[in-house]
Amino acid sequence: MVKSIGLNKTNTCVFISGTGSNLENLIKFSLTKKSPININLIFCNKVNAKGLMYANKYNIKKKIYFFKKKAEDEKKILKDLKRNKIKLICLAGFMKILSKNFIKKFNGKIINIHPSLLPKYKGLNTHERALKNKEKFSGCTVHYVNSKLDSGKIILQKKVKINKNDTVEKLRKRILKQEYKIFPKAIKKVLFNL
Ligand code: GRF
Repeated sequence: MVKSIGLNKTNTCVFISGTGSNLENLIKFSLTKKSPININLIFCNKVNAKGLMYANKYNIKKKIYFFKKKAEDEKKILKDLKRNKIKLICLAGFMKILSKNFIKKFNGKIINIHPSLLPKYKGLNTHERALKNKEKFSGCTVHYVNSKLDSGKIILQKKVKINKNDTVEKLRKRILKQEYKIFPKAIKKVLFNL
């Protein structure tokens, strides 16, 4: 795989726990000329996460910390981030909550993608809850990470209409498509201070 050498690009680390489809989308974005980021590092808290295959596929360094001893692991991660001059962290399906201390100590920006129109439906099972409540719309949000779950300042959102015959799976797929669009846009917004 040929890597683009973006000299002035922001060094970025993506944190994942699962499938990693947003990770692959961000990697593809990072390889485009107009992207302001390089993805230099992937963090994962699960050894068998499917998304880890993208580290091999795109030849990106990966690190696995289980977060069993959170404070210790966070210290190690902070060192890795420093060593790799990481200035942006993108949480993409990362299922652990970062501590206040970690957020304060990281010398850069941390953003997350969430599959709902925040502040509605923080946490898990967003599509199930939106359907159960007979919402007309759901969507996705990219926001800054603070110490409260899914509560940081919103950077970008995209509304998605809920259809009458929607299932969790159908809705999840339609929202994911929008996630792939707004995550790169939000990154540009954050880095270009738009
Ligand atoms: C996405 O829906 C994201 O919004 C949420 O977790 C899911 C991760 O999917 N935080 P993937 O691992 O990127 O495929």
